Amino acid sequence: MLWKYTHNYHALPRLTISSLDEKVYKSETTLLAHYTKTGADTPRKTILENGTDGPQKTLYGNIWSTHSSQMAAGTSTADTAYGTEALPLHTDMGYYREPPGLQIFTMCNPADKGGESIFSDGLALAEYARKHHEKEFDTLCKTVRRYRSIDNEVGWHLEASGPIIRAVDRFEGSPSPCSMMNHKERWGPILGVRHNDLDRLPDLPPPHIFDDEKSVNDFYYDIAQAHNIWDKFLGEDKFRLVMKLKPGETVVVANQRCLHGRCSFNSTSSSRVVMGCYVSQDDLESRFRWMLNGCGIFH
Ligand SMILES: [Fe+2]
Repeated sequence: MLWKYTHNYHALPRLTISSLDEKVYKSETTLLAHYTKTGADTPRKTILENGTDGPQKTLYGNIWSTHSSQMAAGTSTADTAYGTEALPLHTDMGYYREPPGLQIFTMCNPADKGGESIFSDGLALAEYARKHHEKEFDTLCKTVRRYRSIDNEVGWHLEASGPIIRAVDRFEGSPSPCSMMNHKERWGPILGVRHNDLDRLPDLPPPHIFDDEKSVNDFYYDIAQAHNIWDKFLGEDKFRLVMKLKPGETVVVANQRCLHGRCSFNSTSSSRVVMGCYVSQDDLESRFRWMLNGCGIFH
């Protein structure tokens, strides 16, 4: 999903089966379709013969299912996605230094009631913030936040950090501190977003202001203000797209750009089951470059 804020479900970019002929999509979606159809217990199979293509392996394995009984042995279920409660808009795996580039998931069995998927375009939110809330935009770009995921059962302790809005820093390396006057000049194009309050650790001021009480207080005041603005955006209907996915519908989310979430649900007749996988940002960018060079047709 790469779109500006819109309510219009039909305005979203869509893939048809024939467009899956492109190699960039074929390996991942074919593998996912295979698992969706046959169940996760089927022995894993690499689609491309050289074995270098396919889903990114994460703590959830290569292919995950929100139905924990369908997870491969030894993979983690330490995520709120395995519950029934609502999930606020977030990007996945901010606790990885390089979060996945794509999240691809298929609705296998929707909930009887609720469970609608929610999406938001983080790039549109960031550009809106740049235009209408300059100071908060600056704070969201420069404040490094920390994320963590621990699963003691299967042995994971992941930690990484990054700003909510990752933008080109034109002053990087400049010895002079950036003043309020030059926010506009400082931040260039948006490179990505990283946001998940459910995995986030408390904010820490940068080490160079530790001993300055006023600067520390200003730091916490500024991040609280910026967080409130960002949260407000995430709660506004104009920035949200809500969809009740039908069985078999697959969504591809640009995880470093778009946020996703879920309404709470209630299933009495059968479990709500979603299966999915990730594609690394490096793989994705490699494919884009490769296709742009005219090599993108799958034979
Ligand atoms: Fe998620």
